[in-house]
Amino acid sequence: MKIVKTIDELKAYRNECTGSVGFIPTMGALHNGHISLIQRSLHENEHTIVSVFVNPTQFLEGEDFNTYPKRTEADIKICQFAGIDALFMPTPETMYSSCEPSIFAPSQKAYVLEGFTRPGHFDGVLRVVLKLLNLTQPTHAYFGKKDAQQLYLIQNMVRTFFLKTQIVPCEIVREDDGLALSSRNVYLNATERQEALHLSRSLQVATQKIIAGQRDVSALKTVMYEALQPLHVEYVEIVNRDFDTISTIEIGNSIILVCAKVGTTRLIDNLWV
Ligand code: PAF
Repeated sequence: MKIVKTIDELKAYRNECTGSVGFIPTMGALHNGHISLIQRSLHENEHTIVSVFVNPTQFLEGEDFNTYPKRTEADIKICQFAGIDALFMPTPETMYSSCEPSIFAPSQKAYVLEGFTRPGHFDGVLRVVLKLLNLTQPTHAYFGKKDAQQLYLIQNMVRTFFLKTQIVPCEIVREDDGLALSSRNVYLNATERQEALHLSRSLQVATQKIIAGQRDVSALKTVMYEALQPLHVEYVEIVNRDFDTISTIEIGNSIILVCAKVGTTRLIDNLWV
């Protein structure tokens, strides 16, 4: 595995690649969720590139940029054992200059839900993902469905800017008890780890209601809020795959989203129905 730190090294590596290239952008602290994306890329492509870059522009003032979990040695080992071809680990100075044009995510889809409490977050995500896609020129890029709004906005960017990469949405990976894997789970103490299960359970409750025939979004949101007690709920929302809010579940075209704070840790989860 090649560890690549500079743009020139990355370009030189990319020029050597023939055939399909799979790319997994990450902020490190790799867990089984990331590993599932890596394995899928390894299976589907001739070359696999992973990036580890804690992107400053997607963190708001006061967020956990400085304390975001860093596991550099472990990340390198995980990538080595997984068998990827190149690991791109740039510095912020490599990725950004003081004077550069930017990109703004469409406000009607990026300043709601995650973007409501984190205004500007998705501008930073799109900015770095555009740079990373341009640098790595992947045929396929792999993103988890857990960050559903991010995934939608990236697909939208790729479509509207006519990028050639195919975005591959990948299933959420969960612990045995249902907790969706997230790098931020390491912030949870033992009690909070148990409380965090309210998120996936609220989605299970909604699933049972849908199986029983319930299609009304406000009724589903009510049972979910109940199931989320006593957590501090930031939002429960049901949208279609274009991230428009809906009042009736459309099977095959709906996403149920939940965000709640467990202690000081903000967790998200969702279910594609
Ligand atoms: O999902 C993430 O880890 C990040 O938002 C991403 C896509 C790597 C961009 O920094």
